[in-house]
Amino acid sequence: MARLKVGVLISGRGSNLQALIEAAADPAYPAEIALVISNRADAQGLERAEAAGIPREVIAEKDRAAFAAAADRALRERQVGLVTLAGFMRLLDTAFVEAWRDRMINIHPSLLPAFPGLHPQREALAAGARFSGCTVHFVRAEMDTGPIIAQAVVPVHDDDDEERLAVRILTQEHRLYPLAVRLYAEGRLKIDGNRVIVAGAMAPELAALNPVP
Ligand code: GRF
Repeated sequence: MARLKVGVLISGRGSNLQALIEAAADPAYPAEIALVISNRADAQGLERAEAAGIPREVIAEKDRAAFAAAADRALRERQVGLVTLAGFMRLLDTAFVEAWRDRMINIHPSLLPAFPGLHPQREALAAGARFSGCTVHFVRAEMDTGPIIAQAVVPVHDDDDEERLAVRILTQEHRLYPLAVRLYAEGRLKIDGNRVIVAGAMAPELAALNPVP
C-alpha cells in the first residue's frame, strides 16, 4: 500500500525530524517524509534531510501570508497528506491552519494544556510540577492548542535544571512523534470535539507516583 506522504516544517536542530526519518527508514512504517520545509536557511535539520535524500525547501519569507502560500504550494506539489511541525518556531497564518485542519500536527515539550508557549520546561520547574512530558496534538489557530493525540510522561527530579529536564523530555519526543504519525497514517485517529479516540489502542495500566519514598 502507498505510504502516507508527510511534510515536516522545521526551524532548527531537527532532532524530531531525525526520529521521523529513522522511523520511515523501515519500509513497513506507513508514512514517508516527502518534503522538509525550513523558514531558516541555517537550520541543522536541513542537513539531516539532505543526508537522508529528502527534498527540502527554504522559505525564508517573513510575511506570514506569503510564507503560508509558498508552503502550501510546496506541500501540495509533493502530495503531502499530513503536515508535522517539528520545532517550527513561527506562528502560522490562520488560513493555512484552517486549510490543513485535522491534517497538521505539532509536538510540544510539556503535558498540554499545561505550559504552552516558548519555555515549557522552565515553567514546569518554576511551578514545581513533579511530572512533565510531551504532547502531540492536532494544530488549531491558537498556539499549542488542539485535540491531543498522544502524550509521554517523565518525572521531574529535585535537582533538575531546564536543560536536564529538556533532554529527558526530548528522548520521549523521539518515541512519541513517530508513534503519533503512525497512528494517523493507519487511519486510527478519530477527532471528537477536543478528544481524539484511538482505534485499537489501550491506555497503560501504569500509574506513577513521584516521589517514590
Ligand atoms: C522540541 O522540544 C519540540 O517539542 C519543540 O521544539 C523542539 C524542537 O527540537 N516544539 P528539534 O528541532 O526537533 O530538535
